Amino acid sequence: MADTAALQRIYSRESTRFLGRGPMGAAEARRVAHDAAASTIQCPRPVFTLGLDLDGDLLGITKLHLDRPVAALSYILRADAWGKGHATEAVRRILALGFGRLGLPEIRAKHHPDNPASARVLIKAGFVPTGEHTGFTIYTIWPLQNGRLLLPGLPSCAQEGRPISWGVQAT
Ligand SMILES: CC(C)(COP(=O)(O)OP(=O)(O)OC[C@H]1O[C@@H](n2cnc3c(N)ncnc32)[C@H](O)[C@@H]1OP(=O)(O)O)[C@@H](O)C(=O)NCCC(=O)NCCS
Repeated sequence: MADTAALQRIYSRESTRFLGRGPMGAAEARRVAHDAAASTIQCPRPVFTLGLDLDGDLLGITKLHLDRPVAALSYILRADAWGKGHATEAVRRILALGFGRLGLPEIRAKHHPDNPASARVLIKAGFVPTGEHTGFTIYTIWPLQNGRLLLPGLPSCAQEGRPISWGVQAT
C-alpha cells in the first residue's frame, strides 16, 4: 500500500529522534493509515490528519488532535524534505483549519528542547512558549490578540484549499 511505505519513509530513525519513539514499522504504518481514514467518519472527529503532498509525493504529516482538553497539533516531515519551509506552511494550513473552520479558542504544540528547528517552526507560525511538561517545551497560540487576527497571513476558511491532502482531506 503506497501510503504505508510513504509513512515509513516519513517516520524514519532520523525524523523520530526527538519524538520519544522509534521508526515506524509496517504494521504500525498500516494501522495509522487505517485510523486516519476511519477518523474522517467519526463524530465528534478526534483528529484531523493532513498530508503534505507535493506532486503526489507524500512528504509529511500534520495532525490536529481534538481528543484532549486543549487541541494540539503535531507535524513530521521526511528527512529529505527538511529545510524548505514545508513544515511552516503545513502548520499555517492546519491553524487555518483549527481557527478558521473549527473556531478553536487555542491550540497547543510541543517540541523537544534539543530540536531547535521545531521550535523555529512554531515561533514563525506565531506560537509562544507557555510551559514545560515531561521534558518537552509547550507552546500555545490563540487566534485573536486584542481583537485582531494574530496571523495576518492566515488563509480564510474559503481559501483553505487543498495544498495539503493525503487520502484524508479536511472536509
Ligand atoms: C522539525 C521539522 C518539522 C522542520 O521541518 P522543515 O520543513 O525543515 O521546517 P521549515 O523549513 O519550515 O523551518 C525550519 C526552520 O528551522 C530553522 N532551523 C533548522 N535547523 C535549525 C537548528 N539546528 N537550529 C536553529 N534553527 C534551525 C531553519 O533555518 C528554519 O527557520 P528559518 O525559516 O527562520 O530559516 C522537521 O525537521 C521534522 O519533521 N523533524 C522530525 C520530526 C519533528 O521533530 N517534529 C516536530 C515534533 S515537535
